[in-house]
Amino acid sequence: MPHSDPLFPTPAQTAHLIRTRRTIHLFKPEPPPLDVLKKGLALARWAPNHRLTEPWRFYLLGEETRAAIAHLNADLVTEARGEAAGRSKRERWLSIPGWLVVTAQRSDDPYRDSEDYAATCCAVHNLQLYLWSHGIGTKWTTGPVTQEPRFFELLAIDSEVERLVSLLWYGYPAEVPQTERKPLEEVLVVCP
Ligand SMILES: Cc1cc2nc3c(=O)[nH]c(=O)nc-3n(C[C@H](O)[C@H](O)[C@H](O)COP(=O)(O)O)c2cc1C
Repeated sequence: MPHSDPLFPTPAQTAHLIRTRRTIHLFKPEPPPLDVLKKGLALARWAPNHRLTEPWRFYLLGEETRAAIAHLNADLVTEARGEAAGRSKRERWLSIPGWLVVTAQRSDDPYRDSEDYAATCCAVHNLQLYLWSHGIGTKWTTGPVTQEPRFFELLAIDSEVERLVSLLWYGYPAEVPQTERKPLEEVLVVCP
């Protein structure tokens, strides 16, 4: 019974956790503890998931893979915007302390495919909120590099079997940005 369970956060605490989580663009250099990340990944799996397909796959990236992706991305940026932009992007990416790739198993059935993608998004958000409760920020990215065949090769992921859901960076925030949402009335329809 949630209401008699002393471990349950209060509604105000739950609201605060959800409301204050922000996408973090700038991280402090120290990497968060691995055991916290692992606890978050274990919790991510408790996301709602139609037919319990457990479609999520998590790839925790080590130095070598991060560097390879940072270089690949810098090459793309250099091609599009020139040397200086590529160099600065490489430096910034190499300084990001935590990297995780989340994929969802594909399905030939388009309905199941979209449900599995949705469930994996819920799993990512579980993780984001849990990390945030430890003061660890995240950035969910799906930038151009994540659409590159080479990206999947570097991770040894077969893109016909798994689709990318998130390249998730994590670390202690150096800065917490502000964002806004539309008023609830603009997006809420109360049906009779
Ligand atoms: C599916 C998905 C893809 C995203 N891709 C990017 C991205 O490529 N680059 C980026 O800066 N933010 C990305 N974001 C983060 C959003 O920009 C961010 O959630 C939004 O600005 C609202 O800010 P908040 O998370 O602080 O509330 C993505 C978020 C989601 C859910």
